[in-house]
Amino acid sequence: MIYLDEMPERFDKILHWYCGQGGTTPTAPAELFQLYHWFFAIGMSMQHVYYHSKAKDRSRDYSVVELGTGLGVSSILMAKGFKDGNEYCPQKNKCLLLTVDNGNESSTQKAAQIIKLANRQFGLSIKFQIGNDMERLKSLPDWSVDALFTDANHGYADVINALDLGVPKVVMRGRIMGHDYDPVELSVPLAIEDWKAKNGQLVGGWGLINSLWWMIKR
Ligand SMILES: C[S@@+](CC[C@H](N)C(=O)[O-])C[C@H]1O[C@@H](n2cnc3c(N)ncnc32)[C@H](O)[C@@H]1O
Repeated sequence: MIYLDEMPERFDKILHWYCGQGGTTPTAPAELFQLYHWFFAIGMSMQHVYYHSKAKDRSRDYSVVELGTGLGVSSILMAKGFKDGNEYCPQKNKCLLLTVDNGNESSTQKAAQIIKLANRQFGLSIKFQIGNDMERLKSLPDWSVDALFTDANHGYADVINALDLGVPKVVMRGRIMGHDYDPVELSVPLAIEDWKAKNGQLVGGWGLINSLWWMIKR
């Protein structure tokens, strides 16, 4: 069991390691700190999801799917948070976190390298794939992931599309989450609010931590 007051130190270690591997120095460490807290909390609550979905019988490949890898910092933090927080993390030999990026940024090669090293360093199971996020999402079976983190394209239609395609892929009581619920990225909050207004029956709860939003699938 990890206690909350151990988290700053763990977070620091990962971030220092990440920067040492050539990851970008975070521009907003306070927010990244929140991110780690947040994923840790989600990881803990995932125990509940696993428990209720009879984790031991599960045959799905991924627990977490991330759209938009960037340089991999969120992938690494999420995977570490889930690993630390989840005593039921059952499939040691499976890829627990799938992260997809279209590779249009110059950082893609670096991300691949850092993720590979992070898997080794922290015993994580992150699989990094290059491709279009919506196409990859479509290829996943319905009810097949425990948490979806969407952080690729932030346009209004892209966010709506990610939710329309992504929510059916998530298990009952699973989490749908994303970044940049922020007036500076106005299309994100607008899209989230419109989507919720239309699809309220699918949402069993939702919240914000700074600019990070989350929903529980009903
Ligand atoms: C905001 S960055 C992701 C940051 C990362 N999640 C983090 O917090 O460390 C957005 C990423 O999404 C990728 N992206 C944008 N549109 C995409 C698409 N249609 N399919 C896949 N990746 C896409 C970009 O290449 C970029 O690396």
